[in-house]
Amino acid sequence: MKKSPLPFTKEFPALQARVGGRRMIYLDSACTALKMKSAAEAQKEFLLDLGGCGGRRSSHALAGAVEEKYAAARASAARFTGAASPEEIIFTSGATEAVNVLAGAFPFTPKKNEVILSPLEHNSVFLPFYNLAKAGKIKLRVMPLKDLKPDMRALETILTGKTALVCAARASNFFGGVTDFARMASMAHSAGAVIFFDDAQYAATHPVNAAVSGADALAFSGHKLGAPFGTGVLWVKKTLLARLKPFKVGGGVVKSVEAAGSKFKVEYLRDYQGFEAGVQNYAGVFAMAQAFETLSALGHEAIREHMAELVTYACGRLRGFKEIKVLGEEEDLKRGALISFVPAGRSFSPSDLNIFLNTYYKDRFIALRTGRHCADLASLNSGLSGTVRLSFFIYTSKPDMDDFTLALQKYLSFLR
Ligand SMILES: Cc1ncc(COP(=O)(O)O)c(C=O)c1O
Repeated sequence: MKKSPLPFTKEFPALQARVGGRRMIYLDSACTALKMKSAAEAQKEFLLDLGGCGGRRSSHALAGAVEEKYAAARASAARFTGAASPEEIIFTSGATEAVNVLAGAFPFTPKKNEVILSPLEHNSVFLPFYNLAKAGKIKLRVMPLKDLKPDMRALETILTGKTALVCAARASNFFGGVTDFARMASMAHSAGAVIFFDDAQYAATHPVNAAVSGADALAFSGHKLGAPFGTGVLWVKKTLLARLKPFKVGGGVVKSVEAAGSKFKVEYLRDYQGFEAGVQNYAGVFAMAQAFETLSALGHEAIREHMAELVTYACGRLRGFKEIKVLGEEEDLKRGALISFVPAGRSFSPSDLNIFLNTYYKDRFIALRTGRHCADLASLNSGLSGTVRLSFFIYTSKPDMDDFTLALQKYLSFLR
C-alpha cells in the first residue's frame, strides 16, 4: 500500500518554533493555517527581486516580468479552483473582501432583490448583505437550521421568483461537516436564482471544482491554506461576471475616462480586470500560487483521507467524556476538517479550558479557538453561545489529538 504523505510537517517551521520557550500544538487552522515555508520564501523573493512598479501600469521590463508572474499565478489559481478560464479569477485580500465585492457588484433589480443565506454563515457573508438590506436595497432571508444543518425543506418554501442570490458555506466554521451544496445549487437554479459558495473552510482540504460544483460564484482565503495573509480568490462564472457592476473602483480598472460636456464618461474593463482596482498584492498572489502547487502535489485524495482519519480519531478520543458533547454526526464531520464541542451541562467554561490548555504542559501549549467563531448567525440559530473548536490541516497529527485529550482529561478531573 502507498504510504500517505500526511501529516505533512516539513513545510511548516512554526511547528518547531518556540512561543515563550514552548512548542505549539496547533488546532486552530480554521482561523488561519500555519504558513508554508515555500510560499513565504516565494513572497520574500518576489518582494526583493521584483518589488517595483509592476503589472500593466508601466511598460518597462520589470513591469513585464511582474505581469508575467501575475498571469502565471492566475492560471495556477484557475487550475486549483477548477475555473473554466483564468479570466474568471479575481484576486482579493481574502474571503471577506470577495463577498463585499460580490454584494456590491451584484445586479439586483426591484423585481429580483432577495438574498437567502444559509443559517450558518460567517459574518463576512452575513454583514455585507445585512448592510444592503438595512439600506433598503435588498430583502434578506435566512434559512432555518435543522439538526445543525440548513433546512432544505424550508429553503424550498422561501425561494421565490424574487430570489436573486443564495449564499452558503460549503463547510461550516462553527459545526464542521459539509453542506448539501449540490442540492442547494440545483434548488436555487430551479427558482431562477444564482448561488454563491463561501469556500473559506472548504478550499484548503477539498477539491474546489468550481465549474462543476453548481456554484455561480465562490470565494476562499489564501491564508487558510498556507499562503500569506491578505490573499484570496473570488471565482465568478463568466456569464455572471459579465453582469456584475464594477464595485471597488480606482486605478487599473478603467478602459477610458472622457469628458462629456460638464460631466464624465467612464468605461470599465471587462472580466476580472474590472474588479482588481489599485496596485495589487502581486507578491502575495505569487506565493499563494506556490501554496496551490504544494497542495495539488500532495493530492486532494490524500488530504481528504487524512482529514477523515483525524476527525474519526478525534471523535473516538472525545466520545468517552461525559462532560462534553461533540456537535454533529461523525459521518458528516468526517467530510470536513474540524470538530466543535460544548460542555454537557454547566460543568465548565470553554474560556477556562482555553486558559488551561495554554498553561498545563510545561514544554508545549495547545492552540484552539472557543466562542462564536465570527459566525453569529450559527450561534443565534442554534442557541449555542459558543463552542470549543478543534480544526485541522495537513500538518495535524493523531499525537496532537492525544496531547489535547490528555490535557482535557486533566482539566475535567479538577472539576469532578
Ligand atoms: C466560513 C468562513 N467564511 C469566511 C471567513 C472569512 O475569511 P477571511 O477572514 O479570511 O476573509 C471565514 C474566516 O474564518 C470563515 O470561517
